[in-house]
Amino acid sequence: MPSNNINMWWGSLLLLAAAVAVAAAEPPSTLAGPSRPVTVTPRENRGHAVDLPDTDPRVQRRATGWAPEQVAVALSAAPTSAWVSWITGEFQMGGTVKPLDPRTVGSVVRYGLAADSLVREATGDALVYSQLYPFEGLHNYTSGIIHHVRLQGLEPGTKYYYQCGDPAIPGAMSAVHAFRTMPAAGPRSYPGRIAVVGDLGLTYNTTSTVDHMTSNRPDLVVLVGDVSYANMYLTNGTGTDCYSCSFGKSTPIHETYQPRWDYWGRYMEPVTSSTPMMVVEGNHEIEEQIGNKTFAAYRSRFAFPSAESGSFSPFYYSFDAGGIHFIMLGAYADYGRSGEQYRWLEKDLAKVDRSVTPWLVAGWHAPWYTTYKAHYREVECMRVAMEELLYSHGLDIAFTGHVHAYERSNRVFNYTLDPCGAVYISVGDGGNREKMATTHADEPGHCPDPRPKPNAFIAGFCAFNFTSGPAAGRFCWDRQPDYSAYRESSFGHGILEVKNETHALWRWHRNQDLYGSAGDEIYIVREPERCLHKHNSTRPAHGP
Ligand SMILES: [Fe+2]
Ligand SMILES: [Fe+2]
Repeated sequence: MPSNNINMWWGSLLLLAAAVAVAAAEPPSTLAGPSRPVTVTPRENRGHAVDLPDTDPRVQRRATGWAPEQVAVALSAAPTSAWVSWITGEFQMGGTVKPLDPRTVGSVVRYGLAADSLVREATGDALVYSQLYPFEGLHNYTSGIIHHVRLQGLEPGTKYYYQCGDPAIPGAMSAVHAFRTMPAAGPRSYPGRIAVVGDLGLTYNTTSTVDHMTSNRPDLVVLVGDVSYANMYLTNGTGTDCYSCSFGKSTPIHETYQPRWDYWGRYMEPVTSSTPMMVVEGNHEIEEQIGNKTFAAYRSRFAFPSAESGSFSPFYYSFDAGGIHFIMLGAYADYGRSGEQYRWLEKDLAKVDRSVTPWLVAGWHAPWYTTYKAHYREVECMRVAMEELLYSHGLDIAFTGHVHAYERSNRVFNYTLDPCGAVYISVGDGGNREKMATTHADEPGHCPDPRPKPNAFIAGFCAFNFTSGPAAGRFCWDRQPDYSAYRESSFGHGILEVKNETHALWRWHRNQDLYGSAGDEIYIVREPERCLHKHNSTRPAHGP
């Protein structure tokens, strides 16, 4: 063979090899239909599930006087607006606490398009909250002054520099921070990367999750509940990996140690001051105190676009991020069909214009399609109430947490594989101090008792045996259910990259892997011609 021909032959072979390599590296796609269920056996190295102590410099108060700390940015419903939140002053912890007067320090944000040109100013509101346990030997807590300021009239997709605090008090303005607004709503306009995390807590595993997450440079962080795990502590600061095992019978009320919230806010500030973060409540945010008061820290510390999205509730709201309409739902608020949340959801869904925001993505805390033993079918009543409505509006993806492991579903509706059903992704593997979920409900001898456990926050009982399909007559399957595409008990986080109106790349990153490498990845592909017509023209015949 002449040398020219040999070179061409080798060249063709190399090109072919390169093409095969590229093809092999291409993530799978939901267009290929449901994939065979995969369980990845837990790896040995599960990290260091120990909380950061109060001596860790990352959780200690660095601010002095009335200087702001725990600075955080959240989105409003539209990309032309955003919230800036921070805390001034010191919390108090003790038998007697005297709440600070929130009028002591002003709530001002100065902002602009350059660090040396903060020419615009917005003012907002301040509040304090207390966590009170008037029982013998328990301590009370009252917060620093929490400020929330809404910026309006912003340009979408634009970097803004800002300082927050009170310009009238010397030393009471923050350093200059910067964040970028979401791109304008539109079918060809998407944020680069959206990080999705759940059940973070504040352990050394959390720090690994957050390090991996920041290495992916997200434009937005979505946190699907279970934040600080302050309720794993007594008011004297003693913590445990299992509250009910250690303290359950010995305390008059389920205590919390609220300074853990401040530790969390301080640790997260480098992320939250520069990347908008949206939070929805988990069960660890319930935090009951005297007078049946609940969720005080959650509703006080975070800003939510509740009024802007018409929900007027911190427990559920919606917002746009480019061509994605996000709906955050309350798994611990009334979700019944005659309740306010459901009526708001109907109205919000009816307003969505899929030619402007093609993607419909939801987030809430407790998963509907988990197959782990922990929390298996725990919020079945929420699924029964809401799944049909979301399906009929063409929900694309649902993110949840709560179960401390990772799991991704095939497209499913009412436990049935359905090419127009949503993909359910559970990322409760953020790294908190509670045990990781490792047992599956389909393992022999591990199907949990379906009878309801006393829980004032998960109403009703809906978790009946399956009536049809391979698991008919049983509460659990005898193998990994076909709706479960991939499950693994490792800590990590996920990144959603919406590419265009139809294609989004989802990548889940394990903490034990190198930065940037994906443990699970899939192209989630919308099929509007096939599905939206079906969704809009008929209500599903086989509703739950
Ligand atoms: Fe939870
Ligand atoms: Fe959790």
